Amino acid sequence: MIDLTKHEDQLKRTVERARERDIVVPTFAQMKDPTTVPKKIKDELKDISLWDVVSRNLFRITWKNEPVESGGQYQPIANYMELPPELTGVEARIIALVGKWFPTGSHKVGATFGCLVPPLVTGQFDPTKHKAVWPSTGNYCRGGAYDAALLACESIAILPEEMSRERFEWLKTVAGEIIATPGSESNVKEIYDKVWELRRTREDVFVFNQFSEFGNYLFHYDVTGHAMKEVLDKELGSSKYSGVCLTTGSAGTLACGDLMKQQYPTSKIVAGEALQCPTLLLNGYGAHRIEGIGDKHVPWIHNVRNTDMVIAIDDNDSMNLMRLFNEPVGRKYLVNDIGAPEEFVSQLDLLGISSIANTLMAIKFAKYYELTSKDVILTIFTDSMEMYGSRLKEATTAHGQYTEKNAVRDYHRDLMGQKMDAMLELGHYERKRIHHLKYFTWIEQQMFDLDELNQQWYEYDEYWSAIQQTTPKVDKLIVEFNEKVGLV
Ligand SMILES: Cc1ncc(COP(=O)(O)O)c(C=O)c1O
Repeated sequence: MIDLTKHEDQLKRTVERARERDIVVPTFAQMKDPTTVPKKIKDELKDISLWDVVSRNLFRITWKNEPVESGGQYQPIANYMELPPELTGVEARIIALVGKWFPTGSHKVGATFGCLVPPLVTGQFDPTKHKAVWPSTGNYCRGGAYDAALLACESIAILPEEMSRERFEWLKTVAGEIIATPGSESNVKEIYDKVWELRRTREDVFVFNQFSEFGNYLFHYDVTGHAMKEVLDKELGSSKYSGVCLTTGSAGTLACGDLMKQQYPTSKIVAGEALQCPTLLLNGYGAHRIEGIGDKHVPWIHNVRNTDMVIAIDDNDSMNLMRLFNEPVGRKYLVNDIGAPEEFVSQLDLLGISSIANTLMAIKFAKYYELTSKDVILTIFTDSMEMYGSRLKEATTAHGQYTEKNAVRDYHRDLMGQKMDAMLELGHYERKRIHHLKYFTWIEQQMFDLDELNQQWYEYDEYWSAIQQTTPKVDKLIVEFNEKVGLV
C-alpha cells in the first residue's frame, strides 16, 4: 500500500529546499497528458537536453516526449513502433511503446518518480536529512539517482558488480554513492542483504525498493497503461487486442496490463523471464544475461492473480539477435535478403536486450494462440542499445567479427525458429503456486506482513483496486506541495 501520512515538520524543510532549487513537481495527470503542462515550463524545456540533470526535466517523465536529444516538446501520443512481419515471422501485429525518449533512456525514471514523490510531498522523506537508497539491477537505480538529483535529494545506488560498464559510468555522474554487490543480473538477495546492512549501520537512509514499492506499480498502471490504451485506440481499427507481453524485473511495468485488462477484459497479461532463471515457470534460479529482468524471486508488487501466462526466453537468442540487429552486416542482411523495411531496420538500436526478449515473447504468444493479422499484441522497448555498446564489443571479442553466415543463422534460428516451448498458460493453481513463492522472500526474509500477503490473494479486488485508485490522492498532494513552494 502507498502510505500518504503527512509529516508536517519535515515537509516544511522539503518545501523550502524545493523553493531554493526551483523545483516544481509534475502530477500524474500531467505525465499522462503533457499538453496540460504550463507554457512557461514547456518554453524552458526548449533550452534543455533530454538527459540534463536539471529539475525541469521532471516534466519529461512521460511517454510523449518528442524523440529528440535536446529542446524537445511533447507529442499527442506515446512514442511507439510496429514490428514488420519480415522480422517477427508471424502475421499478428506487434506494437511496442518506445522507452528511449525518457531522460536516462529508460522508462524506469517513471517508476522511481512513483516511489519517491509520495514520501517527498508528504514530508516522510526529508531531502535535508535522508539519503535515497535505490537497490536495483540497473535502470531503476539509474532512474532513481537521476530523479533524486532533479529533486535535490542525495542518493545511494546499489547494483550487482557485473552489470554493464555503461550503467556504472553514467551513475557516477549522478549518484552520491555507488555500492557494487556480488554477482550479476539475478543476484537480488545480495542487494537486499546490503540494504539490511545499511539500515542497521546508518541513520539517514530511506530505502526505495522497486520490488515492493507500489509507487512503481502505480506509475505503470496509470501512466504506462493510459499511454498504451491511446496507442491501441489509434491502431486497433477492426482488429482485436490480444494482450501485453513483458519480461519482468520488479513487475512494475506489468501493471499496465491490469489497466488494459480492465478496458479489454478478454486480453491477456503475459510475464516473461529468462530461460536460464525460470523462477515463475519452474520455481527455478540461475544467472542470465537479459539485463533488468528475472531476479530469482517474485516481487511483492506483482499482481500474480491477474497474470495469464509465463514465457521464458533463452538469453542466447536475445544476445544473438542483439548482434543481428546492430552489426552492419546483420542490418544489411535484413534489408537486402529478408526485405525488412530499411527505415525500420535503421532504428533497431531502439531495442535493448530485454526489449528483444519482449519481442520474442510476443512472437511465441502469437504462435501459441494462432493469432492472425487481425490481432494486436502490445509490448515495450524498455531501453535502447545506448546502455549495451560494451556488450556488443564483448561479443566480438568472444565470438569474432559478425559475418553474413552468423546473420543467416541468427535470423532463422533465433527469430523465425521461435517455438511454443518454455511457456505456461496459468490456471488458478499455477497462479497460486507463483503467489506462494512470495512468502519465502517477503515474509521469511524481508519481514513483510503475512496478513497483507493474504489480502493480495484473498481480498484481491479490494486490495488491488485501492492501490489503483491512489493517483488522484497523490496528485492532490503534489498540487498542494507546488502551491506551498510557490513557483507556479
Ligand atoms: C532494461 C530493463 N528491462 C526490463 C525491466 C523490467 O521492468 P520491471 O522492473 O518494471 O518489471 C527493467 C527494470 O529495471 C529494465 O531495466
